[in-house]
Amino acid sequence: MKNNNVLWAGRLEDKPDTAAFEFQSSIRVDKRLALDDILGSKVHAAMLAKGGIISDEDFKALDKAFAEMIEEQIDDSIDEYEDVHSYIEARLKERLGDVGRKIHAGRSRNDQVVTDLRLYILRILPDMCKNFLKQVDATLNTASLHLETIMPGYTHLQRAQPVTLAHWICAWETAIIRDISRFVDALKRMNECPLGSGALAGSGLPLDRAFTAKELGFERPTLNSMDSVADRDFVIEIVSDCAIMMTHLSRFCEDIVLWSSQEFGFINLADKWSTGSSIMPQKKNPDFAELIRGKAARVEGNLVTLITLMKGLPYAYDKDLQEDKEALFDSLDTLEACSEYFWQMFNSASFNKEKMKAACIGGFMEATDAADYLVRKGMPFRTAHEVVAKIVRHCIDTERKAITELPFEELHTFSEFFEEDVYTSLEPEACVAARKTSGGPAPEEVKKQIEALRARSKELAQVSR
Ligand code: ARG
Repeated sequence: MKNNNVLWAGRLEDKPDTAAFEFQSSIRVDKRLALDDILGSKVHAAMLAKGGIISDEDFKALDKAFAEMIEEQIDDSIDEYEDVHSYIEARLKERLGDVGRKIHAGRSRNDQVVTDLRLYILRILPDMCKNFLKQVDATLNTASLHLETIMPGYTHLQRAQPVTLAHWICAWETAIIRDISRFVDALKRMNECPLGSGALAGSGLPLDRAFTAKELGFERPTLNSMDSVADRDFVIEIVSDCAIMMTHLSRFCEDIVLWSSQEFGFINLADKWSTGSSIMPQKKNPDFAELIRGKAARVEGNLVTLITLMKGLPYAYDKDLQEDKEALFDSLDTLEACSEYFWQMFNSASFNKEKMKAACIGGFMEATDAADYLVRKGMPFRTAHEVVAKIVRHCIDTERKAITELPFEELHTFSEFFEEDVYTSLEPEACVAARKTSGGPAPEEVKKQIEALRARSKELAQVSR
């Protein structure tokens, strides 16, 4: 790395040595902002010309150079520079000499870097959300194949009440749709342009901030120049949204890891989404699910990095803020890959319906339904709860696996409210079918949930910056 490409050499007699210079430079991380830096600079130049700060001729030369630079491939030689801003300005000077030296009028890297960062997020995040929505749609197709696939639902990881696989998938997708809408909200809030805020105190030159904001597609300029360069709320917000979504994915992964164990045996992951063991020839491991669960920790760590970074920083700009980008980029990259791989893995898996249904027998998951049965016949719920608790106790003592294994005469001794129809109403399918409350697992209700999620997904797909 060379340390003679800096924008600030005039004031200082000595420069940091190469290693120290490399330590404080940010090019390896911020080079992905090159396109955004060029676009921001192009509009800044247009604004300078419009205000008579540079000539139209200079603007034309600059504009042409920017158009060419957009097409240019960036190679490793960029790593010689301190940051992406120095690189772009150096390339301009190489091409245009003194005209290139005019671009930084009325601008600081402090307002430039946050403008670039906002432009970058606004450029890539809508497409990322659209990809998430495609994954939602594909998974809702899987859900609609499993409206009748009965399985146990759990609380405290103890068998609780029967549900269906479709109901379970809709639970996941409801969370994912919420995650995507969080990104969409954040995009709206961050759609303001900091350019023209300078180092912290604006500029004495006649800058037209409304013009640059509009030309760059922002809704408006930011309100206060100090806040503009000090603020990283939008980064915290996006990374927090990433962390919440990763937390969801990690929970789904935990379900997959459990379901693919021999103890559960509900799911069979495709071979291409599994790995083997170097020593145990029989193994088929859910490594992808485990790794995605693990990667949630990195993104959660990035959120802690950012809020800790911001805590106690004096206004306005501090070099500490350079640390924001690594946490942001890593979070976006990690989430994008994890979401893609998780849903590919899930949607290519097969399900062992017999095992899922068999797991509904033996845990007395029909107990609440038996109590509901008695309530329907007129018994107060608390009394019904006590009656059924006694029945369950009796079944355990007499080694019966389900309430329905009791002959009618025996069942009747617990309550006269029981009639012959109790047997059919306690089958797992009947328990699920009876749970017709909106949001519940009854197939017709889950169908409505799938439709509602599809509608929400369609709405969110309108996202643009
Ligand atoms: N690389 C810096 C960052 O990411 C750019 C801004 C530098 N500003 C400065 N005053 N040193 O924050």
